[in-house]
Amino acid sequence: MGKKKIITVDGPAGAGKSTVSKALAKKLGYIYLDTGALYRALAHKALINKISLEDTSALAKMCSSTKVSLKNIDSKMVVLVDGEDVGNKIRTEDVGLAASKISAFAVVRESLLNLQREAGLQGGIVAEGRDMGSIVFPHADYKFYLDANAEERIKRRYSELLAKGAGVEYLAIQKDMMARDNQDSQREIAPLTASIDAIIIDSSDLSVEGVVEKIIQHICAKKVGDSSNH
Ligand code: DC
Repeated sequence: MGKKKIITVDGPAGAGKSTVSKALAKKLGYIYLDTGALYRALAHKALINKISLEDTSALAKMCSSTKVSLKNIDSKMVVLVDGEDVGNKIRTEDVGLAASKISAFAVVRESLLNLQREAGLQGGIVAEGRDMGSIVFPHADYKFYLDANAEERIKRRYSELLAKGAGVEYLAIQKDMMARDNQDSQREIAPLTASIDAIIIDSSDLSVEGVVEKIIQHICAKKVGDSSNH
């Protein structure tokens, strides 16, 4: 693909962003950046320290005294909080919901902005999240918005958690996902939205390989279009 590019993948919870972004990054030899993990890491710290998820000043204090960093391990950016790999502790529904809550605060978002941008400085990155194409990498080379219908997204999240051995209930997942959709898209700052220059892909009836293939096709088509304009 010539010079290493920035590719953004935004979309709601359960649309398949992580699996697709990881597979895409692997195929291109790019780094995979999961920005949800950054919000989850801060939410996890807030939960274990019993910091109110609604208290902006307490969250601000926590953010300013927390060192969040990224370490490239096998082409995946691993999140470290105060030097510690938070690993799978952040992968629960509770942490996801808490991350969605605290991510509505400007102070939380600002504390993570530079770190995300720095990760993209050299290009060669697939960045996944909610505001990758709109705020973090507005000049990204290729922007995608991955969606799927709500039923499919709930089913996927349910199977994913079951496979991990978590004791989950379908109706509870449905409720959490609706709450997250609402919070992530209705917040004032950096709400979940497809940037006007993003390609929207509905993954409801597609396999992971099918979505990756579609993304690669769009990238190739845009490349051809760009070079024929010069
Ligand atoms: O992608 P995820 O489910 O791991 O993200 C957890 C929450 O973090 C999500 O509900 C909203 C927030 N988030 C965000 O506000 N901006 C991002 N770029 C990524 C995640």
